[in-house]
Parts: sequence; C-alpha cells; structure tokens
Amino acid sequence: MAKKVVLAYSGGLDTSVAIKWFVNRGYEVIAYMADVGQGSDFEVYKKRALQTGAVKVIVDDLKSEFVKDFVFKALKADAIYEGGYLLATALSRPVIAKGLVKAAQREKAGFVAHGCTGKGNDQVRFEVTVMALDPSLKILAPVREWELKTRSEEIEYAKNNNIPIDTTKKKPYSIDVNLWGISIESGKLEDPYYEPGEDTYQLTKGIDSCAAKPCYIEVEFRGGIPVRLNGIAMNGVSLIRKLAKMAGNAGVGRSDMIENRLVGIKSREIYEAPAGLALYTAHKALESLVLDRELMHYKDAVALKYAELVYYGLWYTPLKNALDKFIDETQKYVNGTVRLKLHKGNCSVVGRKSPNSLYKKDLATYEKGDKFDQSLAKGFIELWGLPYKGRRI
Ligand code: ARG
Repeated sequence: MAKKVVLAYSGGLDTSVAIKWFVNRGYEVIAYMADVGQGSDFEVYKKRALQTGAVKVIVDDLKSEFVKDFVFKALKADAIYEGGYLLATALSRPVIAKGLVKAAQREKAGFVAHGCTGKGNDQVRFEVTVMALDPSLKILAPVREWELKTRSEEIEYAKNNNIPIDTTKKKPYSIDVNLWGISIESGKLEDPYYEPGEDTYQLTKGIDSCAAKPCYIEVEFRGGIPVRLNGIAMNGVSLIRKLAKMAGNAGVGRSDMIENRLVGIKSREIYEAPAGLALYTAHKALESLVLDRELMHYKDAVALKYAELVYYGLWYTPLKNALDKFIDETQKYVNGTVRLKLHKGNCSVVGRKSPNSLYKKDLATYEKGDKFDQSLAKGFIELWGLPYKGRRI
C-alpha cells in the first residue's frame, strides 16, 4: 500500500513542487487547502494540485472557526507581538494544522506535510500543533530537506516535471494573507533601511490617497467580542471583512518591524491588519473603562505572554488554556460601544460607553457636584509614603 500524506497546500510554487516531489518518492498525496479568508481561487488550485499528481484535494472552510476560536481569543487577550504584529499568520497556523490533522485521520494517512522553510516560525507552529493533537502522525517538511535551494531551481524542477504554475514573473515578496491581516517579507525588504514602496501594501491605502475627511465608526462589544458595526449586528467574519475595508481605505493598520523570530534571527516584516488594529484599539479602550486598575495592569502582562505563546506555536498548551480561562473571566465586564475616528493612517478613540463603566463623573469632576472627599487624601498619602519617610537611597 502506498504511503499516504496529507499536504497543507497553498497553490503556490513550493507546495506544488512538493506534491510532485512526494509522488516521485512513492507517496499518495492528498492536497489540503484551508480557507482562512486568503481569497484564493480554490478551483484553480484544485485543478493544479490534481494535474500535479495529487489523488484528492480537500478545501476546508475554516473562516468562522478561525475567527471565533482563534482571532477573537487573541483579541480578548489584546495580544500583539513586539508592539506591532497582530499575529495574523501565527493565529492561522494552529487552525490550519488542526484541520490537517482531522483530514489525515479521516483519510487514514500516516503522514502530514507542510511547505514551510527551516528558517521560519511557521514550521514550528504547524508541527507543535500536530504533535499536540495527534502524536502518531509523522510530519514531513520537504522544503526544509530537498535539494532545491533557490527559487529558480524550484522553477526548473517544476518545468521538468510539467507542474502547472505561473513562473514567468518573479514574485517580489513572500506573502501570507488571511482575514485578520497580511504578512509581507523578503525581497527588497531584507534591507531594514529600505522604505517599502506603496505597491508593497495590499490592504491599506497610502496617506496620500486616503480621503480628506475622517471616517467615524462604532463598534459594539459583548463579552469582549465585537458584535455590531455601526449599529448593525454581524457575525465575526462579516464584521472583520467590512471593517477591514473601512480601516484599509483610511490607511489604518500598517506596521514595519524588525522582529525576533523563534529560531533566533531578526527579520524585517511588513504587516497590515486594518480590522485587527481597529478592533484591538477599540477593545483596549473599552477595557480601560470597565476594568479596575489592578485587573487591567495584570491583564497587560498576560497579553504579552499570550502574544508570545501564539507567536511561539504554543496554542495547544496548558498555559495558553489557563490564560484563556483568566481572560474570559475578565471579559464578562467588556460590554459596550467604542467610537473610532479613522483618518489618514490614524485610528483614534473618540468615545466609549458601557453599562459596566467604572468611570464615575461625580468622583472625577472638577466642577459642581463633586463627591470625592479630598480630606481623605491626606491620611492616604501619609500611610502610602510611610515606608519611605526619610529613607535615603
Ligand atoms: N514573521 C511572521 C510570523 O512568523 C510572518 C510569517 C509570514 N509567512 C510567510 N510565509 N510569508 O508570524
């Protein structure tokens, strides 16, 4: 019986070559395509996979699972890596790997495979997820092993093996896209001093082409999850799509980073997450209204850890699970509406309201009606400063 492998297939050059590479080594290949909102033409890729030698192609619509069980958990956590990356790629890997494992189990395949290189984080995320969910599966990473060292060698291999692929124009960057955002790297971006041209960006307008007038939006949250956009109830997928258009048109959601990869190197990354940045900003603004100081500050520390876990491929781990429970406990207060102003690359909070608001105007006001008893401050400060009275350092 042939060795059966389910390959996470993107339709691009690497994974198309991988199909043939496996076939040439006696494997029966099932191509697995996860739809996480990347907007691929799955019909075209399906044909391509079959023509290249796959015996079967699976297209799995994971969009709502991705949003509900991955993206919104990260949003509730306020997870952002190294201050600028909303983790679009990193969040998609565990959901794709989960789908891949389920497909392998259904198809009774002993092997799963991915097309990641040996230098990135994605290989780690895929493999750690597979290891956690089904340790009996063997994982193959052809791109990490094969003798095709450059893109032109891969193109040569594709030509020699009649692999249908657009090889004519050289791709300027390596790109990964899903509903939550896009990650762009390599090519000219490898020079950290090089300013990416406007043509690098795909989901956001440059400031010069943004509308002169700001765009105001209202996001309503229930339990930390966005449920309405401008008063209209929507499911997560539609809300993200709609908002991504609005924020992208206002140039919101870009970041340009030098980031620390898990495998020890620094890399230059361009990200766009227009809906992600708007929702992250709105969510944090609402939390600042409804969470008390200690809970909020503690949660900020948890956010850093949470982002690391996502980035490091540690989604299916006890710590991540425990943090989700903590975060969910905090989110019961996160109900309300935030008003954002999107304008020429800026996303500013201009209003927030909540039935759980801890903001008390009669305590905060400097006007008439002040209920704050200022006489209590004297004693409070006396005790607060007591340990340090006269203390020299
Ligand atoms: N550096 C980012 C991460 O590790 C993005 C990776 C993008 N992957 C890609 N194939 N272009 O999450």
